[in-house]
Amino acid sequence: MQQLERAVLRPLEERDLDRIAGWDSDSELAHMMGGVPISIEESRGRYLKMLNDRNSLVMAIVDHSGRLIGDIELTEIAWRSGDAELSIKIGDPAYRDRGIGECAVREMLFIAFERLGLRRVYLRVCSDNLRAVRCYKKCGFRREGVVKRRLGPDDQVRVVTLMTILRSDFMNMQAVS
Ligand SMILES: CC(C)(COP(=O)(O)OP(=O)(O)OC[C@H]1O[C@@H](n2cnc3c(N)ncnc32)[C@H](O)[C@@H]1OP(=O)(O)O)[C@@H](O)C(=O)NCCC(=O)NCCS
Repeated sequence: MQQLERAVLRPLEERDLDRIAGWDSDSELAHMMGGVPISIEESRGRYLKMLNDRNSLVMAIVDHSGRLIGDIELTEIAWRSGDAELSIKIGDPAYRDRGIGECAVREMLFIAFERLGLRRVYLRVCSDNLRAVRCYKKCGFRREGVVKRRLGPDDQVRVVTLMTILRSDFMNMQAVS
């Protein structure tokens, strides 16, 4: 196992949106995310909406020098049931495979369970995105099931895995580490 490189989360700000929009227009990254590339305007609109939505929390991922390298989101926060969906992208490829994703996901789970008092965090990941699946497993997510979906610009059939982690699982992991 690799040494975890520190990632720091801070609240996303409007000044971050141009850099994020650049990543959102990248077709290779969109494929990994199971989506399609989107325009600068669409990306800005999506993030501005999240920043003003009490059912979403979006954080910037920055490196030790404060450089923006990605973002991580909790969306569809259901305050009554305590569920939320997690999504992450490290936009700058040079920062992938260095343990930063694991660190960022763990920090976001801490926020979800300890600060927001949520009960369950789930995510959807394309099953062929082995790096992402591995990263989520390292953070304690378990596979709940798979579905086939038509995704991307070509409506390609892809297998999507649903993964979840409960507050109790996360707390147990914290206690033993
Ligand atoms: C997915 C993502 C968040 C993971 O973050 P990361 O910092 O790259 O991941 P980590 O370094 O913490 O962990 C990656 C793990 O996958 C492993 N891995 C990398 N490529 C792999 C592959 N092809 N097959 C199997 N495992 C692989 C690494 O060895 C590492 O495991 P290890 O620590 O046991 O050695 C990041 O790569 C990313 O943003 N990718 C682009 C967008 C994306 O795919 N988002 C997720 C959409 S659901």
